[in-house]
Amino acid sequence: MKKNHFIVVSVLLLFLLLVLGVNSVSAQKPAYLDVNQSIEKRIENALSLMTLEEKVAMCHAQSKFSSRGVPRLGIPEVWTDDGPHGVREEVLWDKWSAAGWTNDSCTAFPALTCLAASFNPQMSLNYGKAIGEEARYRNKNMLLGPGVNIYRTPLNGRNFEYMGEDPYLASRMCVPYIQGVQQNGVAACVKHFALNNQETNRRAINVEISDRALHEIYLPAFKAAVQEGNAWSIMGSYNKFRGEYNCHNDLLLNKILKNDWKFDGVVISDWGGVHNGDQAVNNGLDLEMGTSTNGFTTDGTTPYSQYFLAAPYLKGLKSGKYTETVLNDKVSRILRLIFRTTMSANRPFGKFVSPEHSEIARKIAEEGIVLLKNENEFLPIPVDKYKKIAVIGKNAIKSLIVGGGSSSLKAAYEVSPLNGLIKKYGKDHIVYSKGYDSGKTEYSKEINSKVNADSLIKAAVEIAKTADIVLFVGGLNKSKFQDSETADRESLDLPFGQDKLIAALLKANKNTAIILNSGNAVSMPWVKDVPAIVQAWYLGSEAGNAFANVIAGDINPSGKLPFSFPKKLEDNAAISFGQISYPGDGEIEKYKEDILVGYRWFDTKKITPLFPFGFGLSYTSFEYGKIATDKKVYSSDDLIKVSFTLKNSGKVDGAEAAQVYVSQPKASVVRPLKELKAFKKVFLKAGEIQTVEMEIKAKDMAFYNENAKEWTLESGEFILRNAASAADVKSSISISIK
Ligand code: GLC
Repeated sequence: MKKNHFIVVSVLLLFLLLVLGVNSVSAQKPAYLDVNQSIEKRIENALSLMTLEEKVAMCHAQSKFSSRGVPRLGIPEVWTDDGPHGVREEVLWDKWSAAGWTNDSCTAFPALTCLAASFNPQMSLNYGKAIGEEARYRNKNMLLGPGVNIYRTPLNGRNFEYMGEDPYLASRMCVPYIQGVQQNGVAACVKHFALNNQETNRRAINVEISDRALHEIYLPAFKAAVQEGNAWSIMGSYNKFRGEYNCHNDLLLNKILKNDWKFDGVVISDWGGVHNGDQAVNNGLDLEMGTSTNGFTTDGTTPYSQYFLAAPYLKGLKSGKYTETVLNDKVSRILRLIFRTTMSANRPFGKFVSPEHSEIARKIAEEGIVLLKNENEFLPIPVDKYKKIAVIGKNAIKSLIVGGGSSSLKAAYEVSPLNGLIKKYGKDHIVYSKGYDSGKTEYSKEINSKVNADSLIKAAVEIAKTADIVLFVGGLNKSKFQDSETADRESLDLPFGQDKLIAALLKANKNTAIILNSGNAVSMPWVKDVPAIVQAWYLGSEAGNAFANVIAGDINPSGKLPFSFPKKLEDNAAISFGQISYPGDGEIEKYKEDILVGYRWFDTKKITPLFPFGFGLSYTSFEYGKIATDKKVYSSDDLIKVSFTLKNSGKVDGAEAAQVYVSQPKASVVRPLKELKAFKKVFLKAGEIQTVEMEIKAKDMAFYNENAKEWTLESGEFILRNAASAADVKSSISISIK
């Protein structure tokens, strides 16, 4: 008995020592270092240990893409990097120029217009996870993307980085991307908040817009990013809104983003987007980014120590001009981002240029490519159908990953359309001619090719004459005044004489298909004369493989346009109101089209677009059944269940992005004729029929009431329409909201 007694007591003692021991160890570890503590506890503890200088030091850049942590406490720095399509190569401490590393060539994913064109949120999740893994592997804890600014005109140089003209599509497609990135312990930084819908005069233009257009068109994707995507950071935009710069705009940042939407992340400025000290402190900015010193000395116009949220801020805090409460809010948000990323428990390790990433990039490209025209089944082209295929056009060989501004990438590889076609059809069946030139550098506006245009056309025509068919691969590229940051396009037309070349090719061989790489709509004077047109975006590293798979029919295209192609520039809403509406008078820009952006404008003004929003063909065909709802009368809290059959009535398997639009015919305010409120990409085998089901929250059919300053869902009739595009309504049904 004694012996057992002894054993029990000694085990108890041992246990006690163990518990005490562990406690004493954890007692030594401060809460902010303890991953088992809540983030809020860790923030509180870290704040209590930091000096005023250390807090201020966290609120501004220390180099081109990084900001200070707290070295004394072992709190790591914040390292950001571009961009939305892949992880940008390392640049010098304080220069835009490349650092020349040899381990930072990334996977280049398709541009976000291509992702949006897939109409498939699963693709967005895959995209976010993969690009997040690459950012994680490169030890970045903030990825400067996605961009979700609305496509307001076909001239905006950065449309290729965004998700089109419809706020609902942009919302659905950005949320999974953000979630995917952040699953890697990397913060997505959603940009550019807000109303940065052009590059012309972007650092100064003051946008004037109604509350309705702000809330119904330009904010929804950001709101979804915050409230559903749980974005950990947001980037303020360069432009002004109602007279205040958006990197420190009280209405946008304090009232709407932080107060109304309950955003608990970090607001960073765009680079050099901060212009006013008091506003930088008090209007909701948390982290001031920009460029200035070489990191060793203070040479450069504004050394980081002189940033608005640096020495001047510290001085103001010490003099009592600024409160430490506001400072603590900024620092808490930055600490929260750090504890969610670099200091989080079980943070994944990432992956870089993996086969899975290539596969994901290729699948997104394949699902985003849009077939705009295909007469007499010109496409697909089976591998053994023709002896000689002529491939014409500079874009068949030009890198479309480099250039375009901050989203430019140093890719590990890039399969060009020409190489993809040669791989697919064999080099004996492919002949190539450049046809036109688009300049040597990425920033050239003019052609500076040695060979002049006429001889290029002549050579191309020669091989077109003897080929069975011609694939023209052209469009825009990432040069300035095309699809690029800092400048908008100056015309809707294809540059470098491509229309002239296409006319010559058609004369030489009427079997000339047009493939366009671009992030923007272009005019197509030849649209009636060609048998096939493919909108092939910027597809990234896997471009040639995805492109060849679609051309050869290994993949059935299923992409749909995320923005309308106008027949002529003046058909575009913003352009139609003249200079004050776009690009503004140098000071002010008034979005006079208000809520009627994109197809909302074409519907209301009964203008026929060249190609409508939501349009895309397939190698098969689809038949839509009549739309039905689960009830006739709904209350505002209801979910409206919509259903209809969809049949693949063709001979090959395919996928269809079916859409549902909502109208309120007798609203008390002007409303668009219809608005996209649901879509689903449905995969169907040849002959297969499925019942497609979608849900619409009744409250999402509300309009923003400017007088009440809230969303209003009026009772009365609403009409729901299922459609294959904004211009191809299949059926409608009337319901009532009580
Ligand atoms: C640029 C862009 C922004 C980018 C940042 C860093 O000016 O506006 O999108 O992330 O600066 O390169």
